[in-house]
Amino acid sequence: MALKYIDEVSKEIFQGSKILCRLDLNVPLKNGIIQDSTRIDEALDTINYLLSCNPKKLIIVGHLGRPKGERKEELSLAPVGEYLAEKIGQEIILTESAVDRGIKTQLELPKGKIILLENIRFEKGETKGDKELASTLASYADFYVNDAFGTCHRKHASTYEINSFFKNKAYAGFLLKKEIIALNKIVERPKTPFVAIIGGAKVSDKIKVIESLLTNVTDLLIGGAMAYPFLAAKGHKIGKSLCSKEDISLAKKILSTPNAQKIHLPLDHVVSDDINGAPGNCAEIDIAESMIGLDIGTKTKESYKKILETAQTVLWNGPMGMFENENYSKGTFFIAEILSTINAYTLVGGGDSVSALKKSGLADKISHVSTGGGASLEYIENGTLPGIQALKFGIN
Ligand code: 3PG
Repeated sequence: MALKYIDEVSKEIFQGSKILCRLDLNVPLKNGIIQDSTRIDEALDTINYLLSCNPKKLIIVGHLGRPKGERKEELSLAPVGEYLAEKIGQEIILTESAVDRGIKTQLELPKGKIILLENIRFEKGETKGDKELASTLASYADFYVNDAFGTCHRKHASTYEINSFFKNKAYAGFLLKKEIIALNKIVERPKTPFVAIIGGAKVSDKIKVIESLLTNVTDLLIGGAMAYPFLAAKGHKIGKSLCSKEDISLAKKILSTPNAQKIHLPLDHVVSDDINGAPGNCAEIDIAESMIGLDIGTKTKESYKKILETAQTVLWNGPMGMFENENYSKGTFFIAEILSTINAYTLVGGGDSVSALKKSGLADKISHVSTGGGASLEYIENGTLPGIQALKFGIN
């Protein structure tokens, strides 16, 4: 069964109806100010389309951060609501909570077409996938639209359970469509050479995707803190670099598989004796006992560049070093630069690599920048996500 997108049904079915739309509005905030509005901007096509169908009400559901079922003022969706209202040029009513008693009354009032439910993760049942919460949300609307790609890997009440209440009345939005088409270029017969660049901190977070990528990629380039457990597993000295015993044993497991010859590890590093200390070069693989590896070095950059220049498909997830500190950001920005110049299908996912890309101003030179971090990796690993499956098939 194929996914049904909102533009595949007649607009008339939405006319005068109530539509509940789940979006990924989880944007970085600092003192109540949105630092990067990409996720909200990417939701605008769906919002505008649904509004053009002239529904009675558009009820938007979203989360912000991980408040663990408690109300936390700093995680209120208020700044998101203000930004959205300005973008679409219409008033948006933010509710007290997602289960506020006044919502039902509000839904019947002629005034206020767009209702933004307060952070759904203020409700204990959301991350538990609670049926009762899903049922309350479902009671607000006639139709359900999911366009929260970045959250589709979560089996939560508003992304998963809710589908049981909207049989044949659940649709996917335009962002889901865009992400699925882009990610399928990586998942289904990618053009070769296919090169994946994996960075970031924890092997355990990415072990499954590394294992699945190794069967499909031509080369797998590893950087960032991810590299040290692999180097340690190969018997190299990694000094005081970030590395857990668990990650070393996971790296050993990966290195013992036949496809491990596709893995490339750093040949040199930028190091320091302290994460806030001055940078120094370590021109060889082994790192001195007192030093911490914080970025890839010149030889590594050149060797990764050579591999990337012949690639036809490139997937990048995770920075090459501690890029938040300018001294250790060069490897990450170097990768962004290469990806922006090569003649290949390039897909970047994951919060840190996307934010590095945005900082470098090169995001528009990339074929697809995913709004999903964990979601894009899980999609690549499994070829789908629980939220997408539930939208397609419903749940029992
Ligand atoms: C994200 O930021 O990746 C999504 O919004 C999902 O958030 P989560 O990792 O807190 O579930």
